[in-house]
Amino acid sequence: MYERKDLLGLRDLSGEEIMTILNTAREMKAKIDDPSLRDNSLEKSSIVTLFYENSTRTKMSFLLAGDYQGAIVKDLGVGTSSVQKGESLVDTGLTLDQMGINIMIIRHRMTGAAHLLARNVKASVINAGDGSNEHPTQALLDLYTILERKGGFKGLKVVILGDISHSRVARSNAFGLTKLGAKVTLAGPSTLVSSSMRSLGVEVATDIPKAIKDADVVMGLRIQFERQKNMPFPSLREYSSLFGVNDETLKYAKKDCLVMHPGPVNRGIELSSEVIDGANSVINVQVKNGVAVRMAILKLLTENRR
Ligand code: CP
Repeated sequence: MYERKDLLGLRDLSGEEIMTILNTAREMKAKIDDPSLRDNSLEKSSIVTLFYENSTRTKMSFLLAGDYQGAIVKDLGVGTSSVQKGESLVDTGLTLDQMGINIMIIRHRMTGAAHLLARNVKASVINAGDGSNEHPTQALLDLYTILERKGGFKGLKVVILGDISHSRVARSNAFGLTKLGAKVTLAGPSTLVSSSMRSLGVEVATDIPKAIKDADVVMGLRIQFERQKNMPFPSLREYSSLFGVNDETLKYAKKDCLVMHPGPVNRGIELSSEVIDGANSVINVQVKNGVAVRMAILKLLTENRR
C-alpha cells in the first residue's frame, strides 16, 4: 500500500511502500514501448514540473509518464518564470495550487525544498532531487532495475562509488536498499565519503578493488563539481586511475555484476567507456525503467487523491 499525499524521500518509507511502487512500475513498463496498452487513467489530473536545477532524464521521464497516462502535464520553465523576479517557492506553489494543479514535481538545490512545498500546498509533491539530501525517484528506478535483473535484494552486495558526500542518489539508495535487505558499501576518496555515513547502516570504503570484490551491483556516481568549492582530489587523471572503474577493476566483482549509473556520466572519469557500453552495463535500462517508475508514482498519488 502507498497511501501518502507526497513522495519526498525513501528515508521514511517502509519496505512495503517501496515494493508497492516497484510492483506498480512492473505493470507500467510494457506501456512505454506499446502505445496500444496505454490508457487515459490520469486524464483528469494536472501535473506541473518545477525544475530549479537542470535535468534531462528526470524531467523528461516525468513529462512522458504523465502524457502516457493521459494527464495534463506542463513544465513551469523556472528560468523564464516569475521566480526570476524574486517570487518565493511557497508563493509559486500557492499560485499553481489556485490553477488546479494536482501534482507538483520539484527539483531544487536546497535540502528540504520539496518538504517545504508539500507542507504549504494542497497538491501532492514529488521530490525530484533536493540538494545533497534525497532523489527518491532515481533510487526507486535503481531498485526496480536491480529487482528486474536479480529477482530480489536479500544479501546482494551493492557498491556505490564516487562523490558520495554530495550525492542525493547515494543517500536515497542507501535508505531503500538497506530496508530491502541488501548490503551496501559506499566507496570513494576520503574527501568524498565520510565514515559518519556508517550511521546509514552501510559499509564505508576507500580501497576500490577491495570494495568491489564479489559485488553483485557496482553503481558509479558523477563528481558533482557544481556542489564543491575546492577540487577534492589532485587531478581527474589521478581520480580515474585510483577510484574509477574500468574492465580491470570490474574483474574483482562477480561475473554477472550489474554496472549502473544514474547519469549523466562523465565518461572516462568514474567509469571507463568500455564499462559504460559493456555487457554488464544496465545504464540504458535504468533510463527506460525511470519512465515506468514515474508512471507508477503518478498513478499511485493520483489514486490517493480520489
Ligand atoms: N539521474 C538524474 O537525475 O539525471 P538528470 O539530472 O538528467 O535528471
